[in-house]
Amino acid sequence: MKNVLILLVGLMCNAFVLVGQEAALKDYTSNYEQVMNRTQWWREARFGMFIHFGAYSVPARGEWVKSNERLTTEQYQKYIDTFNPADFDAKVWAKTAKAAGMKYAVLTAKHHDGFCMFDSKLTDYKLSTRFGGRDLVREFLGAFRAEGIKVGLYYSIIDWHHPDYPNVGNHPQRNDKEYAKRLFTWDNYLKYMHGQVEELVKNYGKLDIMWFDYSFDEYSGEKWKAKELVDMVRKYQPEIILDNRLSTHEGSSSKQRMVNTLGDFETPEQGIPDVAISDKYGNPVPWETCLTLNGGWGYTELDHNWKSPELIVHTLVNCVSKNGNLLLNVGPDARGIIPEESVEILKEVGKWLGKNGESIYGCGSSNLAKPDWGRYTQKGNAIYAHWLYPNLGQLNAKGVVGETVKNVYLLKSGAELSYQKTW
Ligand code: GLC
Repeated sequence: MKNVLILLVGLMCNAFVLVGQEAALKDYTSNYEQVMNRTQWWREARFGMFIHFGAYSVPARGEWVKSNERLTTEQYQKYIDTFNPADFDAKVWAKTAKAAGMKYAVLTAKHHDGFCMFDSKLTDYKLSTRFGGRDLVREFLGAFRAEGIKVGLYYSIIDWHHPDYPNVGNHPQRNDKEYAKRLFTWDNYLKYMHGQVEELVKNYGKLDIMWFDYSFDEYSGEKWKAKELVDMVRKYQPEIILDNRLSTHEGSSSKQRMVNTLGDFETPEQGIPDVAISDKYGNPVPWETCLTLNGGWGYTELDHNWKSPELIVHTLVNCVSKNGNLLLNVGPDARGIIPEESVEILKEVGKWLGKNGESIYGCGSSNLAKPDWGRYTQKGNAIYAHWLYPNLGQLNAKGVVGETVKNVYLLKSGAELSYQKTW
């Protein structure tokens, strides 16, 4: 009898495990479907503009200057005081993005330095008070929407200025023993951070994307009260898309990510995954590479190492060929102007997209293997062969079954091309 009982208990446990697994899979599937529905327009858009703009454009050594040079808030203040983006014109930025063929844009509402580019009621550490009351974020949103570009805001959950944010991670005062003695009340910081996010999602009309940055070590997920934050964001903005940086992904590989309820898309930075990102069931997972045009996100005066328009086009094709997006960064200078070099590169990319956009927007990976001479993208039964690398005359479209090919032509001119089944 005893043995039988033990056996029964064992069976029951297994049954619970199975029921538990089934329920988890059901939850996962339902969340996965929601993520795919929400991100549909975004996965079709494929190309967006990232804008890193803040008082750090004055020192012009990147947005990490306060941390890199261990500046105190007092030392940083001179940049805040000098910062006067008098030439900022959101309409010009929006036209630049539009001409580049970008379909969405994400602006830094607050970066790690804590200085707010929006008119937050929760702090005086903001641009609007010294900018004639102008709310730069609101102007950005209006101008980009007017061009038909979807809009998003970047918000740093890290804050190197707030008195209740401890000197952890890469905080500028990480080695300052005196600073560490201060009393940090984490809940005060969370209240402030949640409050600011609420201002953004409540007072600025429809936002298409919220780009949180970033989690590290134990500062991840529930440390930020992420679930509550996401619920609040979705309460005001039910269709908004969120990046994945409210939590870290310990233990998962870069190729395989499970979608979760705290974010809708993966955010590889300054690099492209070697294959399309998928979950463990093989479902595609939305992702977006964010990339700088030179080496910096924020304006960097001395960095002239610009990527060529050709490299950007290749990069965009590379992303799309793996079901990914490209969020390409500009860092306006302290006057509010997007560097001329960036504008020139974007113009060229826009020209290419003007002729070849059909092979990017709404496209994803094709199931043909990557050819030597370039990459494929695909939309429905159209396969776009991107001839990227020098090749001798003929392109071998291995895997394309000759009989099924109806037509081969050059996208930019519509000119018919010949094809044959053998050399
Ligand atoms: C990093 C950096 C940050 C930049 C961001 C863009 O998290 O901290 O400066 O804004 O990446 O992806």
